[in-house]
Amino acid sequence: MPERIPERIFIAVAWPYANGPLHLGHIAGCYLSADIFARYHRMKGNDVLMVSGSDTHGTPITIRADQEGITPQEVVERYHAMFLEAWQKLGITFDLFTTTNTANHEKVVHDVFKTLHDKGYIYTADMLLAYCAQCVRYLPDRYVEGTCPYCQNPRARGDQCDSCGRTLDPQELVEPRCAICGATPEFRESEHFFLKLSAFEKPLLEWVEKQTHWRPNVLNFTRRFLQDGLKDRSISRDLTWGVPLPMDGYDSKRIYVWFEAVIGYLSAAVEWAEMNGKPDAWEDFWKDPATKSYYFIGKDNIPFHSIIWPAIILAYDKGLNLPYDVPANEFLSLENQKFSTSQNWAVWLPDYLERYDPDPCATCCPSTCRSRGTPISPGPSSSAATTMNWWRPTATWSTGCFHSPTGTSMAKCLESLRWTRLTRACSAPHARPWTRWTTASTTAGSRPPSPGPSAWRRRPTVTWTPRPRGRPSRKTGTRRGPA
Ligand code: MF3
Ligand code: ZN
Repeated sequence: MPERIPERIFIAVAWPYANGPLHLGHIAGCYLSADIFARYHRMKGNDVLMVSGSDTHGTPITIRADQEGITPQEVVERYHAMFLEAWQKLGITFDLFTTTNTANHEKVVHDVFKTLHDKGYIYTADMLLAYCAQCVRYLPDRYVEGTCPYCQNPRARGDQCDSCGRTLDPQELVEPRCAICGATPEFRESEHFFLKLSAFEKPLLEWVEKQTHWRPNVLNFTRRFLQDGLKDRSISRDLTWGVPLPMDGYDSKRIYVWFEAVIGYLSAAVEWAEMNGKPDAWEDFWKDPATKSYYFIGKDNIPFHSIIWPAIILAYDKGLNLPYDVPANEFLSLENQKFSTSQNWAVWLPDYLERYDPDPCATCCPSTCRSRGTPISPGPSSSAATTMNWWRPTATWSTGCFHSPTGTSMAKCLESLRWTRLTRACSAPHARPWTRWTTASTTAGSRPPSPGPSAWRRRPTVTWTPRPRGRPSRKTGTRRGPA
């Protein structure tokens, strides 16, 4: 028999914001399915690189820092350390889990930014920014709320409408209001950088039409998004937390978090290669057209991975692979409401791990593993979002099944693997040769002690998101976790 040539598989997993502990929605949303996929390919003898890291910038981080009266740096150090602990306890086998707060990431982002700027794909223009006179501050996109101009959802945010999924600019909102105090913001002019997305509408449409192997939810969403027309988007913000701009004169501005976070997939591969003493090894996963790259994400991240990141790759034009597949999952919900860190509505992973074994949380497929008890289905890919009940964490999920890109037999084969390796992971968490944990260079040596379960424990009924006056509060139940 001819020798089988191993395939090369690049597995990119969404970077969680380091603004709170992980919850079961994260695990079900992308980490578990990515890990199962990685293990499957390693077992087949394929060459796998699985990377991700803490998303350390953006308003989710600064909101948390403001609330706790600590610095954004302290916030990300605390939660990054907790993420590493969680991967270790669950046995999620990243080859590298880094952060967007490293010197390496900044270097790679600056190279991409400058290259796009030199080619004219990034340009400056004045833009209108929301400014709240009552709060005396520019409002980040997420701090502006209003009605979505496309679907009329009255609760759209300035960055995105959760109802129709479109990405938005705050000034597109109808009847905008400040999410902190409810006042109507004014829009002031400020100079910013823009990504010329419009130049990629046609090439992306042509590319997307060839991706017939994508899940229907991802393909249809992406098609619809492109057919609506691609507009240039601002990629800088008036902030002091984030990746600085690579040119002088913009000290009070930072690169927009979404522009730089997606570049993390590339910078993490570079960091991994350097860490292993083979600085060019990342190119095998990025420049060999035979390498397949898979992006495991939650559905709210689809446009950033199926449109914006591919547009950046095309603009960069250095022979980097476009995504081969973007398996995006539906949300897991808790008592019919979406898991959410910012809404403080979740079963927190540290709480879960304190009470239960990781095994039931990590069982691979409801259809094959029901007898085992508690699958967190790694792939609720149908539009009926999977829901769980806090009270009965050992009950099966009501819907949802892992539809793997390589067929259903994979789930079966992994059932036993998953079981064995988790048992092993629990007794010898450091024994897995392909797992390497890392902290950002900025945090190495200064990892704070874990704050402990009592600091993590929160009741799902408590919310801390400030609400504008007059807005009806989210319906909250009275049930609480089994504390
Ligand atoms: N932090 C983002 C979120 O939680 C995901 C970022 S994915 C990346 O929604 F690719 F941009 F890093
Ligand atoms: Zn305000």
